[in-house]
Amino acid sequence: MRLSCTVNGVAREADGVWEGESLLHVLRERLGLPGSKNACEQGECGSCSVYLDGELVCACLVMAGQAEGRDIVTVEGLAGDDALHPVQEAFVEAGAVQCGFCTPGLIVATHDLLRRNAAPTDPEIREALAGNLCRCTGYEKILDAVRMAAKAR
Ligand code: FES
Ligand code: FES
Repeated sequence: MRLSCTVNGVAREADGVWEGESLLHVLRERLGLPGSKNACEQGECGSCSVYLDGELVCACLVMAGQAEGRDIVTVEGLAGDDALHPVQEAFVEAGAVQCGFCTPGLIVATHDLLRRNAAPTDPEIREALAGNLCRCTGYEKILDAVRMAAKAR
């Protein structure tokens, strides 16, 4: 089937999409957007987090057909033309990136948190990021990055 949707503000089409294919697969393998990571493919790790019509979702759990005609924003779409988004900057500044596999999902989830809650408490940060797993950092530097991004807003 042909999938037509808007990704990061641009109308995109993908041909030959099969019924069982995930939105994550379409983004990474057909549309050239590898920012969203495929770690568990089971909705457990949050590495594939994107916005679908403004709602935070795991792209690995969204069937490609469900994205027809809809608006998707990936981690690539958060940055400006020549500058990182402040949340992305904060993750770099705080040293919250080690292998980086969890980072795109954490950045999108942090972006979502801060647009809902500009000054989250530590428990609110932990709750908002509970669905994003990191196997490297021990989470402290990730918390620092979120606090830093909140201050920068
Ligand atoms: S790859 Fe989608 S939640 Fe882990
Ligand atoms: S930095 Fe490696 S999984 Fe988080």
